[in-house]
Amino acid sequence: MAMQKELIDKILKLKKKKKAVILVHNYQRPVIYKIADFIGDSLDLSIAATETTARIIVFCGVDFMAESAKILNPEKKVLLPTKAATCPMAAMINATALRKFKKRHPGAAVVCYINTTAEVKAESDICCTSRNAGEIVNSLPNKQIIFVPDIHLAEYVQTQTKKRIIPWKGYCYVHAAILAETIKEAKKSHPKAEVIAHPESPMEVLKLADHVCGTGGMIKYAKQSKAKEFIVATEEGMTNRLKLEVPGKKFYPAAGVCFNQKAVNLKNVYESLNREKYEIEVPEKVRIKAKKALDRMLEISID
Ligand code: 13P
Ligand code: SF4
Repeated sequence: MAMQKELIDKILKLKKKKKAVILVHNYQRPVIYKIADFIGDSLDLSIAATETTARIIVFCGVDFMAESAKILNPEKKVLLPTKAATCPMAAMINATALRKFKKRHPGAAVVCYINTTAEVKAESDICCTSRNAGEIVNSLPNKQIIFVPDIHLAEYVQTQTKKRIIPWKGYCYVHAAILAETIKEAKKSHPKAEVIAHPESPMEVLKLADHVCGTGGMIKYAKQSKAKEFIVATEEGMTNRLKLEVPGKKFYPAAGVCFNQKAVNLKNVYESLNREKYEIEVPEKVRIKAKKALDRMLEISID
């Protein structure tokens, strides 16, 4: 514990000296919350990245989040504390595969989830997050929408639009493993609890939910709901964040760990700041095209 406090102090001092900002995703370890300048969901973090005046951004999250920060801030140094912090779902489609898919569906617009590489964003018309996916799809004039890479989010979006959603068959290993049975059992154990579910979860799970939303939406919902207990169908770390943000209510995790998010720790954050590694780089040609997809989303989502 003393060592932990020492590391936290060292990080905070170095952060000040280097004019760095630390952005932290909700799924991160609670100890990482302690060094954060900003904690949030993917959309909040993208917005925070556009608003910071810092010279360095240390991203405590996974690769596509840090990459989005770099796309929006080319003049800043964006660091990912460890190369293990990747998102396997984002790696389930690449630019070549998307180009081929687009040829098979001429006339369809391409909406990419923010959980994608810069190259895939560059091949897309607009980006979305778990918070705004339905709104983004409905903002487009096209009747057919290619939606990549998450098939579960695509199925959820299909319930929110009359357009035809053409999904890519990617998935998140943490959310795809949530079983309807687990939710039913949890409801038996906690009959007064409401179920809140992330839209990366399978449809059988979403059907059992009282509310479907991204991680940021879960905090808002838990605060305003009359319920005092919640079964949380998303990465288990979210319950730590909910407990801090909504004291006095109870949260029960219904999903496992995202080992990729949890690869970030105090030691590698310190090393990252100290040695200014691992620097995120995006080729300028790709960055400009990917930025268009992110900017279009932010124009719709900021107001
Ligand atoms: P949120 O944007 O809801 O935080 O989701 C990010 C993510 O990776 C979910 O698995
Ligand atoms: Fe990617 Fe799933 Fe981890 Fe989110 S929880 S970062 S989608 S692997």
